[in-house]
Amino acid sequence: QCTREQHRLRYHVSPAEHWINDPNGMVYYDGVYHLFYQYHPYDTVWGPMHWGHTISTDLVAWTELPIALYPDEIGDIFSGSSVVDFTNSTGFQTNPDIAPIVAIYTSAGGEGQRQSIAYSNDKAMTFTKYEGNPVLTDPNSGDFRDPKVRKLLNGKWVMALAVGNKIEFFGSDDLKTWNKLSEFGADPEQGSHGGVWECPDLFPLNVTLAAGVTLEMWVLIVSINPGGPNRGSAAQYFVGDFNGTHFISNPWVNTQWLDWGPDNYAAVTFSNEPQNRVIAMGWMNNWLYANNLPTVAWRGQMTIPRTLELRDLNQTSNPIRLTSVPTSELEALRNPLEYVGNNAEFTVPPQTVIQLTEQATFKNPAMELEITLEITEQPGFSLCAYNAGGEEICFGFNETRWYLDRSKTGNTGFNQEYAGTLYATAPREITAEEMKIRVFLDVSSFEVFADDGLTSMTSLFYANEPLDMLYLNHWSDAGSSATLKVKNFKVWGLVC
Ligand code: FRU
Repeated sequence: QCTREQHRLRYHVSPAEHWINDPNGMVYYDGVYHLFYQYHPYDTVWGPMHWGHTISTDLVAWTELPIALYPDEIGDIFSGSSVVDFTNSTGFQTNPDIAPIVAIYTSAGGEGQRQSIAYSNDKAMTFTKYEGNPVLTDPNSGDFRDPKVRKLLNGKWVMALAVGNKIEFFGSDDLKTWNKLSEFGADPEQGSHGGVWECPDLFPLNVTLAAGVTLEMWVLIVSINPGGPNRGSAAQYFVGDFNGTHFISNPWVNTQWLDWGPDNYAAVTFSNEPQNRVIAMGWMNNWLYANNLPTVAWRGQMTIPRTLELRDLNQTSNPIRLTSVPTSELEALRNPLEYVGNNAEFTVPPQTVIQLTEQATFKNPAMELEITLEITEQPGFSLCAYNAGGEEICFGFNETRWYLDRSKTGNTGFNQEYAGTLYATAPREITAEEMKIRVFLDVSSFEVFADDGLTSMTSLFYANEPLDMLYLNHWSDAGSSATLKVKNFKVWGLVC
């Protein structure tokens, strides 16, 4: 992945060739993280789906392996999940020292969308399809797909499945026989309904309340297409409780977005994560223009892995929010030569631009930036990555909203839905003594995590030359009383 092929990402998952979409079957077992994905091995546009496969021991360096699942007489292999069957509940185990890994996926064929399973007794290197497939059929032959399975503490398996405009939950003892438990989301008041619901994920997370008590809550992620906050594809989430059969969402009104940017879809989490973290990766793309991205050999890529946590904002409405922060392993990408900008604090007066990297001494198409700001009154400012050719992408704040402007990133005309400015509603006031913003920049992607991950935005861009420098622009009106102080910033070049 270190090649200089135009737009090729340095440290993100992308296939050597051809089309990919959703991450699938993400599972950890015996020292290895497995990431499967929707893969069309014969073209760079969507087509008959296979499960491609890539592995990593550290969530940073990935090795692409042969295709794991091929289409069969039941259908193409749509999205789904994998679990480790430690108790051999399926009876698939053949080696007492190796637990079976079971993939649960949607077979999409002439008879509609049905769920199937396949198992591996060699640590996910090869899979055998279960002869009793499909294991779950749709009584209504509509949208009925993307099973995400987890094991509950009582030993039962539970599946979240996207069914049209809602989620259905199914239970099983052996992954082969499934019974419907409940539904969530049929009520139009529950979340956003601007498109079809896809790729759900259900998981528990602890949250420490402002009062000091720690409790377990459940999060349900649901991708939706179209209907995202910046049009097209996006993932919404709900916080609530799961009692073994029903998901009960807390009655907080507005829809919450996992990522407000346009390019993080179908995000789901690893099962059996060894440190019990909740780590998500998404397809870094949007169905609005996914088939037109201006890459040549391959098309499609994943976001960096992100650790999800719940935080109590101690506000009356929507107090508990999901935060996304880059998974700590990514620090291994940092070049030893750290560029620490002027450690002394300094104020950026209105109408002032400062360079965060100096062209002569620091240029890298893959960078991580961490900047801590003190903001006493909501100012207008932006943080931009740019190149000598005048191309740039900017993330900033304007009155009440975060924004991301990719209108000057070079090739913006490959699809008319692509260009423009994208907005995010901040979950709380951004005036703060310590407002931390982290940016992961790669050759053709920009991922920003503001306010310690309370707002994240992910965007692709296609500059003619890499955006390898950074500046900060405090563009509030001259004479404005808005103050912006840089308390600290650090920039690392990232190795590939
Ligand atoms: C989401 C999705 C899934 C489906 C898969 C097909 O991007 O539409 O619902 O399983 O892609 O490739």
